[in-house]
Amino acid sequence: MKQIIEAIKQSAIEIKELIETGDTSKSENENTTGDTQLKLDIASDVIIERIFKKIPEIKQIVSEEQEHIVNINDNGMYLIAYDPLDGSSLVDVNLSVGSIFGIYENSFSGENIVASIYVVYGPRVELVISHDNKVDMYRLQNGKFNFIQEIKLNQKGNLNAPGSTQNCWAPFHKQLIDDIFADGYRLRYSGGMVPDLHQILLKGGGLFSYPGTTDRPKGKLRQLFEVFPFAHVYENAGGQASDGHERVLDIATTHIHDTSPCFFGSNEEMNRVKEVYSKNA
Ligand code: F6P
Repeated sequence: MKQIIEAIKQSAIEIKELIETGDTSKSENENTTGDTQLKLDIASDVIIERIFKKIPEIKQIVSEEQEHIVNINDNGMYLIAYDPLDGSSLVDVNLSVGSIFGIYENSFSGENIVASIYVVYGPRVELVISHDNKVDMYRLQNGKFNFIQEIKLNQKGNLNAPGSTQNCWAPFHKQLIDDIFADGYRLRYSGGMVPDLHQILLKGGGLFSYPGTTDRPKGKLRQLFEVFPFAHVYENAGGQASDGHERVLDIATTHIHDTSPCFFGSNEEMNRVKEVYSKNA
């Protein structure tokens, strides 16, 4: 695991450089979920794959930007699913973006995730490791990642980050979000999953939602690359991650690019979500 963490730190330093100087235009390719890939998505993916290919601990990798699993080393122990540059369309407007890594053993599935790491590229570069029942944050300073703090969620926060197309929400979901705002929660949604979830973690709590909608009944966010890694972080930080009905890490994955509705947050907000969803199964 140590080698993997070092590899991710190295990739983060290279991707930071790429974001600062790279071309933000579109490529001619689409990824498996039909998103047009930016040149930055492809270049970040190339950086990570090149670095991971040198690590003997890694058995297989799969990128959100690629269709297939890549075999690295038959004797490796870990399988890594990663989103090289999540929220990449925000780079040209200079908002924060991130990289997400889910580290699995035996198979790519929620029950087999053993650690996760994400990197936020904002005014500062921060790297968060969820492993061994804790969540630790590091910051890039003078070319090195220095430990800053352990992250723990409060029981309740005051931020609300409601994602997806609002006119496609189920009426009960709209009511839930309206009720949360009516209780004084502040809207905080940039459209980048990594900075939006990072903000809720660092400000002590709140709710991030990306529900199933009439246009996307299974949500948009991908289980292996986005939902499971952040579920690992939120649970380790003392919060919860659910699809409204069940813990997301208990959901079975049938295809590497499966998506699922998801809610991440501190306990009070998550219990509220589960109560509303249980009445609207
Ligand atoms: O998966 C890509 C992504 O950009 C996430 O980072 C983000 O949370 C989500 O999509 C935003 O989607 P929407 O604009 O539909 O709310």
